[in-house]
Amino acid sequence: QVSASDTITRLVRDIADFPEPGVLFKDITPLLADAAGFAEVVEALAEPYRGQVDVVLGIEARGFILAAPVALALGVGFVPVRKPGKLPHETTEISYDLEYGSETLQLHTDAIGAGSRVLVVDDVLATGGTARAAVDLVERAGGTIAAVAVLMELSFLPGREVLGDVPLHVLHTF
Ligand code: PRP
Ligand code: MG
Repeated sequence: QVSASDTITRLVRDIADFPEPGVLFKDITPLLADAAGFAEVVEALAEPYRGQVDVVLGIEARGFILAAPVALALGVGFVPVRKPGKLPHETTEISYDLEYGSETLQLHTDAIGAGSRVLVVDDVLATGGTARAAVDLVERAGGTIAAVAVLMELSFLPGREVLGDVPLHVLHTF
């Protein structure tokens, strides 16, 4: 994924001390605003899973932006994992610690069929709490994880270890 990696290096910008002091925020908005770059990273996220997955799961909020076009590229459906109080039907939820603060994620209990092969898509793997929660929600629902696919891995944080033997598809490592 040399080309997608170069595109991420070129179009993702660092914002110091956002959303709080000491955090170096990876701002993907310049990448999203670049038509060729956006298309390139969506294709790079999707390509290994063509014909391999039944559904793409996106994590609110930045994960949605990437997961929906990845689902379309793969010709499969999209399922949202959302922050509390946003999904209207019956949900199951997991709480976890984030790089900054804590969070709860919810999934509709009927969103993932038993044995469904799921690709989880998000923008960044940092501490791994978010991706781990999504994986656990899918497995609790009876689905199987094809992989967690992200634009960026922050290798100075333990996300990879937190995911254990879950397959990980990373376009660029910082
Ligand atoms: C950010 C990012 C990932 C997550 C990664 O989401 O989009 O989802 O943190 O961090 P982790 O590996 O330490 O869990 P966040 O909820 O901060 O914001 P968003 O709603 O803009 O996606
Ligand atoms: Mg997020």
